[in-house]
Amino acid sequence: MTPVRDTTAGRRIVVCVGSGGVGKTTVAAAIALDRALAGGRVLVCTIDPARRLANALGLTSLGNVESRVPDHKFAEAGLRAKGELHAMMLDGKRTWDDLVARHAPDPARRERILKNRLYQQMSSALAGSQEYMAMEKLYELATDRDYDLIVLDTPPTAHALDFLDAPDRILDFLGNDAARVLLAPAIGAGKLGLRLAQLGGGYVAKTLARFTGQAALSDLGDFLQGFQGMYEGFKDRAGAVRALLSRPEVGFVLVTSPSPISIDEAMAFHERLHAESMPVAGLVANRVTPDLWPGAAPLPSPEDLASPLGERGGNDRGFARRLAETLAEHQMLAAAERRALERLFEAVSAPYAVVPRLESDVHDLRGLARLAERL
Ligand SMILES: Nc1ncnc2c1ncn2[C@@H]1O[C@H](COP(=O)(O)OP(=O)(O)O)[C@@H](O)[C@H]1O
Ligand SMILES: [Mg+2]
Repeated sequence: MTPVRDTTAGRRIVVCVGSGGVGKTTVAAAIALDRALAGGRVLVCTIDPARRLANALGLTSLGNVESRVPDHKFAEAGLRAKGELHAMMLDGKRTWDDLVARHAPDPARRERILKNRLYQQMSSALAGSQEYMAMEKLYELATDRDYDLIVLDTPPTAHALDFLDAPDRILDFLGNDAARVLLAPAIGAGKLGLRLAQLGGGYVAKTLARFTGQAALSDLGDFLQGFQGMYEGFKDRAGAVRALLSRPEVGFVLVTSPSPISIDEAMAFHERLHAESMPVAGLVANRVTPDLWPGAAPLPSPEDLASPLGERGGNDRGFARRLAETLAEHQMLAAAERRALERLFEAVSAPYAVVPRLESDVHDLRGLARLAERL
């Protein structure tokens, strides 16, 4: 068994986190494929996969639809799955709508919220909402389906920690006391619906309207009104999602590149997960410069290289020198990356895997299976 494979083997939910572009989506798909090959019934939830990877997984449409990777895709890659691999692309907006539908007390209220312009903007743009919605969807899948393993990819945000804060931010917004106070004159006691006439009367409302426009203000009032009474449902749900994430069957896999920024972010993420009692299962250092001259042996001199290069090395002294220099530079880079990663491996006491930078992108099942071997 390899370290990350080993540590994720007993888990039912694996969440891949890390800064943008480090390989989260790729690693998530590789972990899922690996378990499916070994016989598991697996679902990978991806977010914005590269087109070719989406194709390889047989994903053609957005919108929270699970679809099974067909056998012929495995056969084309020279693989045979003992289990099943299902994949889907997460759609944050759609998850919001589902959530509203679930909590709305009646169809009229549901329609009123879904049609609200402010809601439409917020559900697709509110900071952190995409992160939170990924977790929300995970909760639903983990509760309603019977996969042996669900692997969740996370959005390509600059701040990988956003999803932990997102529920609070969303709840703050929905239960926004400031907005309630400001709109209080308009939302009269016992009155349903926002009375624009009344709203226009208050000084604060007048001022707000001047900046935001009457329509926007009326949308906001209507929106908060629409959510009245649903706040508790949302809050309970966010609590349940959080509780799920700290269960032992869940494992976070931190993915990082050897770049200092990405390592710092992985460190910060680890600290945060630890503080929140969320289980870190393992660490993947991805796209690492391979060590071409392992051990402590001194690097070859141009003279050392000249003779194995044969005729070319003999005829062109400059060629052997350039090759020796390139190797030395390469090794320096590999050593610097290694040192930076050691710092991380020491700080995070979890099993880790080092995956080299491969010659080409990983965009098909065969490439994913090969990458999984290194996990
Ligand atoms: N070990 C690797 N070697 C070479 N290319 C890689 C490796 N891991 C990932 N990639 C490529 O890097 C790009 C970004 O990976 P991706 O998984 O989409 O990152 P993220 O989801 O973290 O933004 C993709 O084109 C992917 O094929
Ligand atoms: Mg991604």
